[in-house]
Amino acid sequence: MSLLPETDRILLGPGPSLTAPRVMRAMAAPTVSHLDPLMMRLLDDVRERLGRLFGAADGSLALAVSGTGTSGMETVVANLVREGTPATVVVTGYFGDRLAQMCERYGATVTRVDVEWGRACDPDTLARHLSANKSDVVAMVHAETSTGVLNPVRELARVAGEHGALTIVDARQLEMIAPSPAAPTAGDWTPTVSEAR
Ligand SMILES: Cc1ncc(COP(=O)(O)O)c(C=O)c1O
Repeated sequence: MSLLPETDRILLGPGPSLTAPRVMRAMAAPTVSHLDPLMMRLLDDVRERLGRLFGAADGSLALAVSGTGTSGMETVVANLVREGTPATVVVTGYFGDRLAQMCERYGATVTRVDVEWGRACDPDTLARHLSANKSDVVAMVHAETSTGVLNPVRELARVAGEHGALTIVDARQLEMIAPSPAAPTAGDWTPTVSEAR
């Protein structure tokens, strides 16, 4: 028995979304080895375009991770956080809470800025928090799916930078429809995914 869908499905949720026919055709192309020179060119092309999409500054690094949004987040957290790293996590809903738990699992000493669900984080609140809680990393969600709240990540990332912290922005939900949070002054590390446009 095949587990592949036998009828077309129309996906109208916040993600995954419908895949463009051009992408479907590309996925039916012959398999390329991960060691094939063509694969290197392909990955370089994807990385270059990702940087442009994010409005990233010259010299920025864009990486394509083959996996879900969670795997992208975990890639960033695992590389920026270690045992005892002081980290502030802005929690404006379910995914902010999950991000705080992820940082804790990687050993960070997490302090949370808990914001009433349904409201965005005010940059002044973060500034006051960081003055009292020195942090090497500030993590936040751009568009908090569980509440529909859009956090002002540019301003929050600026505040984090002024306090000497690197910023992680979970842009899983919104990259294609909101101005890029990674443009000049924003998130130092900004994972997003392709299936939620
Ligand atoms: C804001 C946000 N972060 C992370 C995730 C997790 O992404 P994924 O389901 O691709 O692992 C989601 C999923 O909806 C999300 O909305």
